[in-house]
Amino acid sequence: MNVLVTGGAGYIGSVVVEELVRARHSAIVLDDLSSGHRDAVPPLAYLVKGSIGDPESLGQAFQAKSIDCVIHLAAKSGVAESMARPDLYEQVNVTQGTFLLDTMRAHGVTDLVFSSSAAVYDPSAPMPLTESSPLRPSNPYGETKLRFERILEERAATGGIRYVALRYFNVAGASIDRGEDHRGETHLIPLLLDAARGAREPVPIYGSDYPTRDGTAIRDYIHVVDVAEAHVRAIRYLADGGENRALNLGAGQGVSVREVIAAVETVTGRRVPTVPAPRRQGDPPALIASSDAARRVLGWSPQFEGLNVILETAWGWRVRHPEGYKE
Ligand code: UFG
Repeated sequence: MNVLVTGGAGYIGSVVVEELVRARHSAIVLDDLSSGHRDAVPPLAYLVKGSIGDPESLGQAFQAKSIDCVIHLAAKSGVAESMARPDLYEQVNVTQGTFLLDTMRAHGVTDLVFSSSAAVYDPSAPMPLTESSPLRPSNPYGETKLRFERILEERAATGGIRYVALRYFNVAGASIDRGEDHRGETHLIPLLLDAARGAREPVPIYGSDYPTRDGTAIRDYIHVVDVAEAHVRAIRYLADGGENRALNLGAGQGVSVREVIAAVETVTGRRVPTVPAPRRQGDPPALIASSDAARRVLGWSPQFEGLNVILETAWGWRVRHPEGYKE
């Protein structure tokens, strides 16, 4: 298939493109490189530099090849930033996303795999979260992801679109050639790895008073290659006539911040400097996925099992790319 990947120069998007190419699909990447990297785009993919809000760039992407389906990852994705700038999140994640849907319609493209998030759920719901757990985002980022899912539902109801929304939990790890390189990094694992190699200050532990086994927040970490592979399965599922739906992508294992730190120390063989800090605003105490539906519907199952394996790949990439991507 000819697949348009918006945000295909980003951390997750570039690995999605890698997996598409590996499965012999043809990938057209649309990315404005605001947080992605030119060097992250696999050589066999065709890059159009531009935004999903820009008609000219979208036109170029849709005309590069006859597009069969779209994987839409281009978005603003910082929880803290979303609280400071909800308007920006509305603009990019909802308004520009809707413009992408209009452009798909204009080009007769119906199938879409959307990059959604665990942030759509009510974090006070019982764990593990299933796709029918209550939805109540605790920050504007999650709200925009849920709003866009609702728009997909509406458009699917009138037959304009067919979609799978993949709700990622905490994506981590690296492939051989592609890893996590965010400017102004905020994610726990890359921060801990950089601290382990002495490349940054002690990492703050946001909150030690959560109602969890060791007082720190619990997340469900899933390998980026496993997440990427689910996208390849999802486009095939839609092409085979699959139903519109949302699917969780997680490992089903909750790991606390302190447990992540201990695992980083084991994998790297180094001590990781940390410092206690107050809770970070908008952070729920625990998020754990049930991914039974993705397993059943897509025939997906994570291949990188256990946090240590995830960390080994992330550490390997960081050691090979201490400065991240060149461009
Ligand atoms: N944490 C720290 N110190 C840090 C950074 C993070 O203690 O310096 C903690 C956080 O409080 C959280 C955990 O480590 O408990 C993981 O934090 P990340 O920032 O790595 O990830 P989040 O769980 O906050 O966010 C991720 C995605 C979001 C998504 C969210 C919910 O980045 O896009 O999961 O699925 F919305």
